[in-house]
Amino acid sequence: MQSSTMQAQRAGRIVSPAAVASRKVARAVPASGRAPIVKVQAAATLDKVAAPAATASSGGAGTRVMIIGGDGYCGWATALHLSARGYEVCIVDNLCRRQFDLTLGLDTLTPIATIHDRVRKWGEVSGKHISLQIGDICDWEFLSQAFTTFQPDAVVHFGEQRSAPYSMIDRQKAVFTQTNNVVGTLNVLFAIKELKPDCHLVKLGTMGEYGTPNIDIEEGYLTVTHNGRTDTLPYPKQGNSFYHLSKIHDSTNMLFTCKAWKVAATDLNQGVVYGVRTEETMADPMLLNRYDYDGIFGTALNRFVVQAAVGHPLTVYGKGGQTRGFLDIRDTVRCIQLAIDNPAPRGEMRVYNQFTEQFSVNQLAEIVSREGKKLGLDVVVQNVPNPRVELEEHYYNAKCTKLVELGLQPHLLADSMIDSLLEFAVQYKDRVRMELIKPAVDWRKTGVKVNTMGAAVAQ
Ligand SMILES: NC(=O)c1ccc[n+]([C@@H]2O[C@H](COP(=O)([O-])OP(=O)(O)OC[C@H]3O[C@@H](n4cnc5c(N)ncnc54)[C@H](O)[C@@H]3O)[C@@H](O)[C@H]2O)c1
Repeated sequence: MQSSTMQAQRAGRIVSPAAVASRKVARAVPASGRAPIVKVQAAATLDKVAAPAATASSGGAGTRVMIIGGDGYCGWATALHLSARGYEVCIVDNLCRRQFDLTLGLDTLTPIATIHDRVRKWGEVSGKHISLQIGDICDWEFLSQAFTTFQPDAVVHFGEQRSAPYSMIDRQKAVFTQTNNVVGTLNVLFAIKELKPDCHLVKLGTMGEYGTPNIDIEEGYLTVTHNGRTDTLPYPKQGNSFYHLSKIHDSTNMLFTCKAWKVAATDLNQGVVYGVRTEETMADPMLLNRYDYDGIFGTALNRFVVQAAVGHPLTVYGKGGQTRGFLDIRDTVRCIQLAIDNPAPRGEMRVYNQFTEQFSVNQLAEIVSREGKKLGLDVVVQNVPNPRVELEEHYYNAKCTKLVELGLQPHLLADSMIDSLLEFAVQYKDRVRMELIKPAVDWRKTGVKVNTMGAAVAQ
């Protein structure tokens, strides 16, 4: 390592030869303040993207963090965010998310490198090592060996089948979703108990676990007075798909093991994540994150943005009054860091609602239309029959103060709409496959017949 690099690292910055080269490009940002669009396709363009200006400001630097699901959308961005800040990171993943794409004929908007190439490139760009364990956490032999080898202080568990539509395609995928998610989490809980009892579990739940009750949604617990007696109980859960129900069962198992085995756990009920840019994933084309826009894995806002970029009507399901919590992926990675740095004491299951703003589907469509027009895009909104079974007009007021109290400074959608979302989608619009855009899975038609081909392309 060159001495200037070492000096910079001691000062809390990551610098590599590639980073030094790319800083020159970063300085060439036009007066508008907006970064120029750079076609990111091959490693040869390494010197055309901004380097990670990561700082090791965290008190958690040195913490050993196992990231289960570290090849996925949230997991990859989090792995790099933490590694850049001095955490010792080990990614665990069985690559099933890539297999879903191969099986269903889907693809990410962005071309993504293999996990091995990603990790190797991160080492070159940052000088930091991320270790990699490829395997299935439902396989106890594999998971216990990974735990024993890495000895994590914290486990961040993203490693689940995370699409509600996927879980509703057919019986086989419903059973897979619940088995994969519930058994995987159960194995992680056993691994903590047996192999590393002081390890803090940071588990990704979803705001969808709460459903849409006609009262305010609290952060995990609700104090109830009933027939003159008062207790604080887990907030009622009303999942709207076999996927959401798997997450509810995870939460119940976690709460039980916190009580029975004194596990320390933080359940992060995450809202819908949007965006793709984080400082580290934009540092090199090989570090680029995935971006799902299809009717099975694409989340609402990510889908609308791609639809706007290619001139497809924004497909609002039903009346569009469905309201949910949302957050920028740059806030996801920061929330995870805050949860790791502020561990729950043993025996406690903390619950944080991890989102920053709430919007209805109609509001999202309106924002995308308005901002798209500023870029010269002709954006049309179309109401389509709702493939899901859900309330389309309802009360929604969810609390999300605990992560802000820990120091989260949210990125707001209004500020990232053009730079981080629309321009990015326009950049990759040639890769969009129009037949994947529309809703593909109807909740009412889930049956026992294997429906992989039917679900792959919108009907
Ligand atoms: N993306 C969102 O908007 C969102 C919103 C709320 C909650 N979440 C939760 O966040 C987590 C991550 O979501 P994501 O969007 O990054 O999903 P993703 O599908 O992109 O990533 C999940 C990763 O876990 C891996 N995985 C799945 N099962 C595994 C197993 N048994 N063993 C090892 N690895 C396994 C997959 O291969 C994949 O790389 C999920 O638990 C999801 O429920 C996501």
